[in-house]
Amino acid sequence: MCATTSCSMKNYRAVRGTRDILPDEVPRWQFVEATAREHLHRYGFREIRTPVLEGTELFARSVGASTDIVRKEMYTFSAGDESVTLRPENTASVVRAFVEHSLHRTATHEYPERLYYIGPMFRHERPQKGRQRQFHQVGVEVLGSASPLADAETLQMLWSWLARLQIRGLTLSINSVGDATCRPGFREALRAWLLPRLPQLCEDCNRRYAENPLRVFDCKVEADRALLGDAPTLLDLLCAPCRAHFDEVQALLRGYEIPFTVDGRMVRGLDYYQRTVFEVTSSALGAQNAVLGGGRYDGLVEELGGPPVPGFGFALGIERLLLLLPEGEGAAAPLDVAVIALGTDGFAAAVSLTRRLREGGVSAVMPLAERPLSAQIRRAERQGARFALFVGKDEVAAGRYGLKDLHTGEQREATLEDVVGAASGRIHVG
Ligand code: HAM
Repeated sequence: MCATTSCSMKNYRAVRGTRDILPDEVPRWQFVEATAREHLHRYGFREIRTPVLEGTELFARSVGASTDIVRKEMYTFSAGDESVTLRPENTASVVRAFVEHSLHRTATHEYPERLYYIGPMFRHERPQKGRQRQFHQVGVEVLGSASPLADAETLQMLWSWLARLQIRGLTLSINSVGDATCRPGFREALRAWLLPRLPQLCEDCNRRYAENPLRVFDCKVEADRALLGDAPTLLDLLCAPCRAHFDEVQALLRGYEIPFTVDGRMVRGLDYYQRTVFEVTSSALGAQNAVLGGGRYDGLVEELGGPPVPGFGFALGIERLLLLLPEGEGAAAPLDVAVIALGTDGFAAAVSLTRRLREGGVSAVMPLAERPLSAQIRRAERQGARFALFVGKDEVAAGRYGLKDLHTGEQREATLEDVVGAASGRIHVG
């Protein structure tokens, strides 16, 4: 410790845009993750864990070289003679793994491979509420099926999970961004519309016009956004198969009674999408209002060297979801027992008793040095322990201990076996 103000000791802090998730917050995270796992299991999803590091080229190829993510937001560095990137998203990695391990062999149109992941992503964006440089996603990828039912069923799974979490006030917006047949025509129509307006648009939009005009819809400049509000949408130019797919997705969503709006200008910030795209937003979130986003990416597996396997998925931002999760959800599991050691003899006995409680499946703590009774009780209450177990010389001789229910205040004598039973809720004190 430094005693003087001239102390030169550095105060280390978490890197800007990253944060520590402290023990008091973790139960809410675990709650979201556990309900996600349980819910996804019901729908036949299996977890996949890919590395956080990938070859840089993977993202340029899939997310797209002209996207903001690849142009400005990736954490890229060289290690040896390799250029590697901390994943800014995980669809590319999952598809890379899918191809690398030939998972397509068992994924069919009728029985697609349903995968999910939970983990950190990294984007060098300007931090603000709901936007960090390290953030966490729950994501799913359904690989193999081109059916509109894959889109709708996955959205139904999502909607019922959000309902279980009691997240309210959400809006589902959907759109179709067409495919390789109809998008080139739209790109040209958009270019023609943009051309006379280029002088009014920002420098970035002028670059987008040349590189990939659809990306103008990513523009954050207010004046540009207002102008682009009148731009043509792809919905008017969809080819017949894309139109049929989009109509069927909407019909299925209505069948599932999932409310949605069609937003013809939503293109999403990643290049791999084809046909359906969607976002779920909440007005309670402020500027960064997207809780999740996703869509169909039928060309991506091929683009990354695999066979023509269609895909559909989404990713949800856990930090943003937590901002919407009702207060009481995700409470910490209480500690079962605080062992209160009375005197030196009690302390020695408490050490072995605590061990036996733990071996019996009970969560139990005791101080690691002798402490006054009052201090131990205060601590037990602060730790939210369910029971206090008093261990002194007499109790050890009798094999019976004072067991106090800290919720009700009731107290009685109990054996070790009783305590194990009480802690697991099988018997009640009193
Ligand atoms: P995305 O829209 O880039 O899609 O990200 C999905 C979600 O991640 C966002 O809706 C948001 O909740 C969260 N998110 C994104 N950036 C940040 C940030 N800087 N800070 C906090 N949260 C953030 C994808 O990542 C696609 N891979 C989704 C997908 C899966 N599409 C198909 N399959």
